[in-house]
Amino acid sequence: MREYLPVLIVGAIIGVFSVVFLVAFLLEKDKKKSMGWERNMSDREIIRRLLAYAKPYKGQFLLVFLVMLFSIVYDVASPLLIGRIEELIKDSFPLSELFSYVAVYAGILVVSLISTYAQAMLLQKVGQKILSQIRMDTFTHIEQLSHEQLNRIPVGKLVTRVSNDPNSISFLFTNVLVTMAKNSLVILGVLGAMLVLNYALTLMVLCFVPFVVLFTVIFRKFSRKVHRRVNDATTAINTYLSENLSGMKITQSFNREDRKMTDFETRSTELKKAKNARMLVFGIFRPMVYMLYISSVLCLFYFGAKGHIRNLHWFGQSISSGVIVSFYMYLNKFFNPIQTLAEQFDMLQRSFAAAEKIFSILDIVPEVVDEPDAVELDEIRGEIEFRDVWFRYKVDEWVLKGVSFHVMPGQTVAFVGPTGSGKTTILSLICRNYDIQKGQILIDGRDIRTIKIASLRRHFGQMLQDVFLFSGDIRSNLLLRMEGVDDREVMAACKYVNADSFINRLEKGLDEPVRERGNNFSAGQRQLLSFARTILHKPSVIILDEATANIDTETELLIQDSLERIKTIGTMLIVAHRLSTVQHADSILVLSHGEIVERGTHQELLAAKGRYYKLYTLQFTKQELMKR
Ligand SMILES: Nc1ncnc2c1ncn2[C@@H]1O[C@H](COP(=O)(O)OP(=O)(O)OP(=O)(O)O)[C@@H](O)[C@H]1O
Ligand SMILES: [Mg+2]
Repeated sequence: MREYLPVLIVGAIIGVFSVVFLVAFLLEKDKKKSMGWERNMSDREIIRRLLAYAKPYKGQFLLVFLVMLFSIVYDVASPLLIGRIEELIKDSFPLSELFSYVAVYAGILVVSLISTYAQAMLLQKVGQKILSQIRMDTFTHIEQLSHEQLNRIPVGKLVTRVSNDPNSISFLFTNVLVTMAKNSLVILGVLGAMLVLNYALTLMVLCFVPFVVLFTVIFRKFSRKVHRRVNDATTAINTYLSENLSGMKITQSFNREDRKMTDFETRSTELKKAKNARMLVFGIFRPMVYMLYISSVLCLFYFGAKGHIRNLHWFGQSISSGVIVSFYMYLNKFFNPIQTLAEQFDMLQRSFAAAEKIFSILDIVPEVVDEPDAVELDEIRGEIEFRDVWFRYKVDEWVLKGVSFHVMPGQTVAFVGPTGSGKTTILSLICRNYDIQKGQILIDGRDIRTIKIASLRRHFGQMLQDVFLFSGDIRSNLLLRMEGVDDREVMAACKYVNADSFINRLEKGLDEPVRERGNNFSAGQRQLLSFARTILHKPSVIILDEATANIDTETELLIQDSLERIKTIGTMLIVAHRLSTVQHADSILVLSHGEIVERGTHQELLAAKGRYYKLYTLQFTKQELMKR
């Protein structure tokens, strides 16, 4: 009995840990089965689509696999060699033989090192290529979505789809798949080599496998839970951040900094706790596998040495000291891959989930697309007609109800009406940002659905209600990557719309930096810049959705003057809030609840004493009052 005491102690320790963890496992109620990365697509479908991305790099992957075999050979062969050398040393044997063994070992080692390096480099390169392909595909696809579709997906989500998710997939190709394949092969190779060396000792090692499996199963339950917790906490903090950073100015003006700080702290603390919990789970799992490893080493030395000293024969095999040395090395190479495999299984699941999220974006079929027989329009005259157009954003809520009007080339038509009456909507329909449900929109007598969207939009210069400026400088914002235009032309356009005076006053002129969304410029200046941008792109039809923001009288006069000039370029559709803007229009359409209720020139409409007259007198008296 005393003879087996060391082994019994080892067994008892493993037993106690197993029972404790098993009880914890059974007591742990994982109510929420979902990982936060649950999926609808099958693994097979995801793998099929991922392989499609890897297909162009078949050769490279094959090469990686071949190179990988070298490092596997090293893992499996080196303990054999060392064991052999150990045996040779005891007998007196020629030094030349020792040299040859050392040379072979060194050779394998060098080849394995080089192959590991080559494999990592190759994989990184391929991974980056795949990553950039996926990112490009996603971005190009998002570009094709209609306004309606884009409205439905939060911007933050799209950013994650383009920036973060492809990273997880590239990690799958560069790391997860290869390490998993390699580790599985190493485990098999090591097992095979151990069997060849000694059955009995191999059986002893295999006795530890059920415990490894048990610990792994327990670990996976807890690791899923902590991963999910970290995931949820990260999402919570990101969502909170993105919303509150954009709304920071509001927070400051309402003095809500303290309250927001507390909210943020709660989320931040939760993330910290979640990460600590994750560390704890991994911190327990790794030592457990290590304990099994050490126990197996103890057993190996105990049984191995005993067998060696007593020269025991098991299954016809004796145990030499070399066998013990080799087994000692194999044990490490056996337990390490098992631990890594267990830890990487979740990575695999996470990559699949990221892949599914990307594929679900790629699967959204763009709603507004070119008809198969759509034509290119090289030039347009600028005649625009709405024939009984009905449109709605949401089912059962018509925003435009039978709108009809006809604009002749070169004419200026203005839309006026209360807020929400559908003015902006009319303008965005002309450029086919949305498709209408009933009726027809015609350009030069041709239904816009029969025209290629890109060629249609090329002829329109849109100046929208909220001017969007990209971060960069003034020049890049005016040109939007248009080529072959020099600064003289750019300045001429600026002068044409009266934007030159304020640009000239800037320290760096056209090179003046523009911050995010152009927040270092006033509303009036942004409007003038958008005029210049439109002029530079030489449109045939100009669409202006006037900003509602108040601008000072001086800038208003500048804008008036620029508009008078822009009018001469071609057909112009204006949505105007200041009635001074529309007085010179050829025709004014008054909208109310999605219907045109009055139409005519400024004078005609005033004479009719209807809605326009009311709007006009209201604005006029307001201005008069403000002047006093
Ligand atoms: N993307 C959208 N999705 C759903 N409904 C929308 C969308 N855009 C506008 N609407 C709705 O359509 C109606 C008309 O909006 P539109 O923007 O055309 O009004 P508007 O006349 O330009 O108003 P304003 O003078 O305030 O600019 C409004 O009731 C608005 O709520
Ligand atoms: Mg509007």
